[in-house]
Amino acid sequence: MNDISIRTARAEDKAAWLTLWQGYLTFYGSAIAPDVTEMTWSRIIDPITPVFTRLAVVDDRPVGFATCILHPRTWAVEPACYLEDLFVDENQRGRGIGKRLIDDLIAMGRRDGWTNLYWHTNKDNETARRLYDRYDKADNFVRYRLPLTP
Ligand SMILES: CC(C)(COP(=O)(O)OP(=O)(O)OC[C@H]1O[C@@H](n2cnc3c(N)ncnc32)[C@H](O)[C@@H]1OP(=O)(O)O)[C@@H](O)C(=O)NCCC(=O)NCCS
Repeated sequence: MNDISIRTARAEDKAAWLTLWQGYLTFYGSAIAPDVTEMTWSRIIDPITPVFTRLAVVDDRPVGFATCILHPRTWAVEPACYLEDLFVDENQRGRGIGKRLIDDLIAMGRRDGWTNLYWHTNKDNETARRLYDRYDKADNFVRYRLPLTP
């Protein structure tokens, strides 16, 4: 297996990230306005904004990403990390890249003192859940989500 490395996304990764991002949107059957994609990318590379992306790189080519939001909590002094988007190029799946991306976040969180790393997924996303179930059981919370924009 070729070496997989994980690193933070940089400005020069934009074109590669856009291709992966498009794959992610296609997976969800979603279209996002170009200005939202632009804003997401600017947030990712802005060191002040608490949004960051870790890229999985094989042969110098980004093949997957984990995008997170680090946020303050009311129940702890330390922040928690929300993993909002996780994606691996379809041709690279099943090689442990998704697991490497999550393991990397766990290592960052242990190093930087996050209280926890958490994420949501569709209950029918069996491939993703097979990976996630290696870490822990899903909890019993359910999600209420009120759309507020027209
Ligand atoms: C979920 C996802 C990130 C996992 O990435 P990955 O690099 O394939 O993950 P891993 O290889 O670490 O583990 C995937 C599991 O599927 C298995 N698998 C085997 N062949 C596979 C294949 N061709 N495609 C996908 N998964 C495969 C893996 O072996 C592993 O299962 P196991 O733990 O029982 O061995 C990836 O499938 C993906 O991008 N899916 C579409 C987007 C998505 O669902 N994102 C998560 C939203 S919450």
